[in-house]
Amino acid sequence: MPLIPLRTLLDHAAENDYGVAALNVNNMEQIQAIMEAAAETDSPVIIQASRGARTYTNDNYLRHLMLAAAELNPNIPIVMHQDHGNSPATCLSAIENGFTSVMMDGSLDEAGKTPNSYEQNVKVTKEVVVAAHAKGVSVEGEIGCLGGIEDGHGAGLSEDEAQEHLTDPAQAEQFVADTGLDALAVAIGTSHGAYKFAKKPTGDVLRMDVIEDIHKRLPNCHIVMHGSSSLPQELRDIINEFGGDLKPAYGVPVEEIQRGIKYGVRKVNVDTDSRLAMTGAIRKIFVQKPSEFDPRKYLGPARDAMKEVCKARMIAFGQAGWAGKVPTTTCKQLIDFYKK
Ligand code: G3H
Ligand code: 13P
Ligand code: ZN
Repeated sequence: MPLIPLRTLLDHAAENDYGVAALNVNNMEQIQAIMEAAAETDSPVIIQASRGARTYTNDNYLRHLMLAAAELNPNIPIVMHQDHGNSPATCLSAIENGFTSVMMDGSLDEAGKTPNSYEQNVKVTKEVVVAAHAKGVSVEGEIGCLGGIEDGHGAGLSEDEAQEHLTDPAQAEQFVADTGLDALAVAIGTSHGAYKFAKKPTGDVLRMDVIEDIHKRLPNCHIVMHGSSSLPQELRDIINEFGGDLKPAYGVPVEEIQRGIKYGVRKVNVDTDSRLAMTGAIRKIFVQKPSEFDPRKYLGPARDAMKEVCKARMIAFGQAGWAGKVPTTTCKQLIDFYKK
């Protein structure tokens, strides 16, 4: 099956009330972990690469790895998505390299450090929508700013500061009308990385009510939750037990994500949980078998550990069981849909 656009998958998810994990990758083992999890749970998947991932992996390697994933799993619909594109140029180069979906994150300036004006966000997002839709490629935009730091992208807002940059639902409504995007990333108090909340989040810091408000105004809009790792204690414990040093922190509880899915959340971004799972598995081998030096002996268990996290999320978000039922529309076939 060819790689499919995000829009097709999220439309199907909306019709059938499920969410889809959007899982970040940087190498072959992570792609394999996701595909094994998808095959075992019969799930359609979104595989995404950040700018940092594209630089680390190289677009040619990435494209061929993704095509291998599709070739080896003909029954699994796969979306290949650019995560946090910082400029139209980044999104256009992703499209040239086979991505079927791009995020133009115009919530921050091109350097990824300072919040953009609303007008600038609309300008860059719309520019990408016009270019991407002409090729049948889907577009995610973002309004409001997340906390935390990503390599090269992220204003570095603290938990408190992030609360000052939450998405304004009225502005979200305007943004969707002004840009014509396919999926809308919103800021509801989450942040990227391993330090999201100092205690188990309650409704005053994890603002699921903002999602409910946006969904009321935009019932047909596909909402995206970034910073959605749950930071499971058991994964943090493994890292610390085997020589790591992770300070206590809380993530986004899976049951809150499930609540979001009832209110229009269709794409759920998860990267840190995969990183925690792989790192714990590798640390454990290094400590328990200090004489081991064959990379397969630690990358294999790391891949298995990531697969288990992916499977758990696929089941919890409701995408499991749907792989065979998602329409196999290609980007080319979506061009006419977007013309309308
Ligand atoms: O958006 C955040 C993802 O975790 C990607 O992170 O920029 O370090 O690849 P990265
Ligand atoms: P986490 O850091 O919570 O995994 O978020 C990932 C993300 O939002 C990627 O865009
Ligand atoms: Zn993100």
